[in-house]
Amino acid sequence: MEALGRPEVTLAGIDLEIHAAPERYRQVVAGIREQPLALGALVTTHKIDLLAAASDLFDGLGPFATATQEVSSIAKDAGKLIGRATDPVAGGLSMGAILGESYFGRTGGELLMLGAGGSALALILHLMRKARAADRPQRILVVNRSAPRLARLKAMVGRNTADGARDIEFEFIQNSVAPRNDEILAGLPPGSVVVNATGMGKDTPGSPLTDTALFPLNGVVWELNYRGELDFMRLAEAQAPTRGLTVADGWEYFVHGWSQVISHVLHEKIDAAKFARLSALAASAR
Ligand SMILES: NC(=O)c1ccc[n+]([C@@H]2O[C@H](COP(=O)([O-])OP(=O)(O)OC[C@H]3O[C@@H](n4cnc5c(N)ncnc54)[C@H](OP(=O)(O)O)[C@@H]3O)[C@@H](O)[C@H]2O)c1
Repeated sequence: MEALGRPEVTLAGIDLEIHAAPERYRQVVAGIREQPLALGALVTTHKIDLLAAASDLFDGLGPFATATQEVSSIAKDAGKLIGRATDPVAGGLSMGAILGESYFGRTGGELLMLGAGGSALALILHLMRKARAADRPQRILVVNRSAPRLARLKAMVGRNTADGARDIEFEFIQNSVAPRNDEILAGLPPGSVVVNATGMGKDTPGSPLTDTALFPLNGVVWELNYRGELDFMRLAEAQAPTRGLTVADGWEYFVHGWSQVISHVLHEKIDAAKFARLSALAASAR
């Protein structure tokens, strides 16, 4: 807040248990709505449950909140309470920084998304909306432990029928067994992008792959988290020299997510230079 010239603004945490009662989410959103000094909020973990419980308390939703049915940013625009989903933009910006322009056109790689939760859905939506064919993979494989999240993702894909999005071939696989994920990985062409969006290695122990899994030659491996044991990323790091891998963690994603919300809540434009300055400040506190 000091760096943004707003030292009078303070951050206050509100802890809710996972899948809290709808009434608790409504209390929190109503509190922000009613208190003039509450400027807004950044929502983690509860993005889907909060919107499901309190959608009528918002005066408006951003297009990504409608598309993903989740809210990660709550802000007041001219007195109106607006909910937005930041993951498609924040995840998209960090994915763009990792892959560079025309990645899929240049390499012919595909995308393997391990996990079909909120961040997987946001990243896939981002790719489906890419205007140039070279920025979209020809095939996206999504693996998830249980069926409901896969069904939700499938429905989102079905709703987004822009021309480019229709070109992408999708495969939805319900699986939670690591050796089966190794087999799916082995079937990917060189240059493919493998994302760990399961939370395994941080939220839960272990990795969605076994220790003997082999990443695609010259591929990109992206772990969405930046803290925890990160077993999946450690395996990729060990193979990076021999397999020609690019390995990235979720730090930049995290900083983009916060920057997006701060920008909405404080009505502050965060350009590349300001992002770099905030990112350096965040890195010093990492
Ligand atoms: N760096 C950042 O700023 C940033 C931003 C967003 C997310 N993240 C991280 O990314 C991770 C995913 O986030 P999210 O919001 O998408 O979480 P989420 O909604 O909880 O999704 C995780 C998904 O992974 C599935 N899963 C778990 N273990 C699996 C396994 N072994 N095989 C297949 N699927 C498995 C879960 O399946 P079920 O349906 O069975 O539960 C769930 O659908 C979290 O750890 C989060 O902290 C980081």
